[in-house]
Amino acid sequence: MSAKSNQRGAKAPLLGSKIKLNIEKLAIGGAGVARHEGMVVFVPQAAPNEEILAEITLVKKNFMEARVVEVLSASPHRREPPCPVAHTCGGCNWQHITEEEQRRQKHTLVLETIKKFNRDLEFNYLPIQPSPRVLRYRNRIQPKFKNGRFGFFARNSHQIVETMDCLITEETLTDKFAEVKAWAEKKNAKDLQRLEMYIAEEGDVRYGLITDEDDGIGFSQVNRFQNEDLLRTALDWAGDGPYKKVYDLYAGAGNFTFPLAAKYASSEIIGVELNPKLVERARSKITDKRMTYFMSDVETYMRRASIGKDDLVVLDPPRAGASEYTMQTLAAAQPRKIIYISCHPVSLARDLNWFFAQTQKMGIKYKLDRVQTFEMFPQTDHVETIAELRVDS
Ligand SMILES: C[S@@+](CC[C@H](N)C(=O)[O-])C[C@H]1O[C@@H](n2cnc3c(N)ncnc32)[C@H](O)[C@@H]1O
Repeated sequence: MSAKSNQRGAKAPLLGSKIKLNIEKLAIGGAGVARHEGMVVFVPQAAPNEEILAEITLVKKNFMEARVVEVLSASPHRREPPCPVAHTCGGCNWQHITEEEQRRQKHTLVLETIKKFNRDLEFNYLPIQPSPRVLRYRNRIQPKFKNGRFGFFARNSHQIVETMDCLITEETLTDKFAEVKAWAEKKNAKDLQRLEMYIAEEGDVRYGLITDEDDGIGFSQVNRFQNEDLLRTALDWAGDGPYKKVYDLYAGAGNFTFPLAAKYASSEIIGVELNPKLVERARSKITDKRMTYFMSDVETYMRRASIGKDDLVVLDPPRAGASEYTMQTLAAAQPRKIIYISCHPVSLARDLNWFFAQTQKMGIKYKLDRVQTFEMFPQTDHVETIAELRVDS
């Protein structure tokens, strides 16, 4: 096999060959980023500012992937993971990096991603908000069971890493692992069982199977400790109002909707959510005639919504972000303020680009006022971001 050439004409090493790499930073997805002869190399389980011996595992036209063979000069941010199965378990990909450095990387990643899609956008970028807990923060997990083995999927595999603990999960849940394993064993199923365990709003532990017919409880914020800070920030940034209408798009079971209804006591409150279970849960809690919960896809809802200039819009889409149509329609509607909560920097950056392309096209003065990254998922590369957009008067 001959050496492949990358875009710039440099010779890429052959698949399987070993090279020395310096890790510059971490990328979305969690891998370390290095450069070899001008080509980007992604290396999972690497740490920033370290030299490694790496084996090339994938060669593409514009990038390569490699695995760490040996750490030649360890990063000052590298550490022994607190969890004994962290090296094999697919649950956490940043346990080998100190929490301080995890936050620094996330803070930089979000800024760089927004700037990549929106070069000229100016905004106030606040320091990252650390999570009150770096371990024992998850209140909803999906363990696996097969042939007597209870645990989590190994990294990039459907093999089960056996464990009777998970350090990022609240002890209220891990204390029940033995009970859940015994429950799964009794079912005597040879096939893989995907389980879900969570702490219900009432405080008790619930668990069950996730099947093709039943996808579990649906979305809920997994870090209730950090969710409190996020909620407080969203309400604070939303300002004093008053608003005629307050929209909560991608509303889930009402995490933001009910506090918004309490704060804006004279506003009409509208929640929009696709998942019927979450809509049902939210509707069962509504006691106020000002509140309406629509079971709808947000884009479909936007086709008939009449968002006005005296309104507030909060949106918290899934990782895929909102659609181009949704962002364009929001821009054209010119609500006084928009609070965008994001769990994926790339979709946030792209959505902002769609939004500001539309305001520019229509000659509307709108401003990205402030952005803050929240550490919602310590020990992983996942990150939450909140952004405030408002009419620029
Ligand atoms: C990141 S969660 C946020 C939920 C809620 N804001 C919270 O804090 O709990 C995104 C929510 O959007 C819902 N969703 C996903 N796609 C949707 C769509 N196209 N239209 C409406 N809701 C959608 C999901 O079911 C999920 O509840």
